[in-house]
Amino acid sequence: MKDDLLHSLIQRETIRQSETMDLIASENYTSPEVLQAVGSVFSNKYAEGYPRKRYYQGNAVADELEELAISRGLTLFGLSSEEWSLNVQPYSGSPANLAVYLALLAPGEKVMGMQLSMGGHLTHGHKVSATGIIWNQVPYGVSKDTEMLDYNELMETAKREMPKMIIAGYTAYPRVIDWKKFREIADAVGAYLFVDMSHLAGLVAGDSYPSPFQYADVVTTTTHKTLRGPRSAIIFTRKQGLKIKDQGKKLFTIAEAIDKAVFPGLQGGPHLNQIAGIAQTFFEASTPEFKIYAAQIVKNARALAEALSELGWRIVSGGTDSHLLLVDTMSKNIGGKDAAIELEKANIVTNMNTIPFDPQPPMNPSGLRLGTPSCTTRGMKEKEIGLVAEYINAVLLKTRTPEEVQKDVLALCKKFPLLY
Ligand SMILES: Cc1ncc(COP(=O)(O)O)c(C=O)c1O
Repeated sequence: MKDDLLHSLIQRETIRQSETMDLIASENYTSPEVLQAVGSVFSNKYAEGYPRKRYYQGNAVADELEELAISRGLTLFGLSSEEWSLNVQPYSGSPANLAVYLALLAPGEKVMGMQLSMGGHLTHGHKVSATGIIWNQVPYGVSKDTEMLDYNELMETAKREMPKMIIAGYTAYPRVIDWKKFREIADAVGAYLFVDMSHLAGLVAGDSYPSPFQYADVVTTTTHKTLRGPRSAIIFTRKQGLKIKDQGKKLFTIAEAIDKAVFPGLQGGPHLNQIAGIAQTFFEASTPEFKIYAAQIVKNARALAEALSELGWRIVSGGTDSHLLLVDTMSKNIGGKDAAIELEKANIVTNMNTIPFDPQPPMNPSGLRLGTPSCTTRGMKEKEIGLVAEYINAVLLKTRTPEEVQKDVLALCKKFPLLY
């Protein structure tokens, strides 16, 4: 039954995506094959439980699907099934993170996480998130001088507060994270090290950012950012050596505890269609082309930071080692919100963002977060990124009207079309 109204909304959104320059660091364009998998008949099936331990009949194919996704995910990140477990059922990043808390911590225990305003995620213990309501955040940030992590300060905070879990991996931090230092800090206080590599997974899979697996106890990631998959999330857990007791005082490995936290702790039936999309994503991310893609994302982000900096914009921490950068628009007396609104008039889509130690409120912060995963998926390289920097500069400094710049953006988007 064709729904003309819905059909027209999908058509309009397809056109919007193809005609805008998407610089939102957490977004990407999945392949048509991922979209097909997510829209497949796997959407029709209930599969509560885990492979070969289901509560419903008819899951022989679903079992194979989930096992395929798990084995591909472990292989992609160079992990063995003896050492690591992978749960592919979380509906998205926030529930995946909540499952980690539920599995490893008792209510009220301390979690050391980066403050939202410094680049952390809500689920790293912010007071409005369930993670901050049920557990106690020990907040940390970046150094005022360098706008980067200060590991000595982190060690001091950890020793003073003795958190049960430390979270590394962020939403708006452009630089390399020293996972080894985090391990040392976690070991010094006997805390779990939980890495949330949601923003970084595609770069890690493509060997363009250091892998956290040697050091972390648990690693979560969304699958829809740099990894270029469906909206979903997964949880890797180290299998060996760690044991935890549930309320009935039964002994579990933390991997078993996390599986129990995902189902039945937080969720019911897994979204098999998303798991199909994840399996396809892992297939694509294991190709040599994906490595080239991941490297190009970082080259493009560096090119954008350099070009904007040459045009006189202050880049937080002086640059980037990843897919994203933070521009201090207030350094030119332009609020982040106004900047984002003006850029959208020229079909350049970004998001306003706080910068470290922001004197401005979150709803009108001092900066913009820019990311290059989407335009790199379109095939853009440093040359085009240089043009994008000029367009941003022209719109924000009003040397050209947004309508004039929009024409150039449309031409660039046409030259680098989407696959749908
Ligand atoms: C670091 C990090 N963790 C978790 C999430 C949450 O993911 P979701 O929006 O899928 O719940 C995000 C989303 O932006 C994120 O940046």
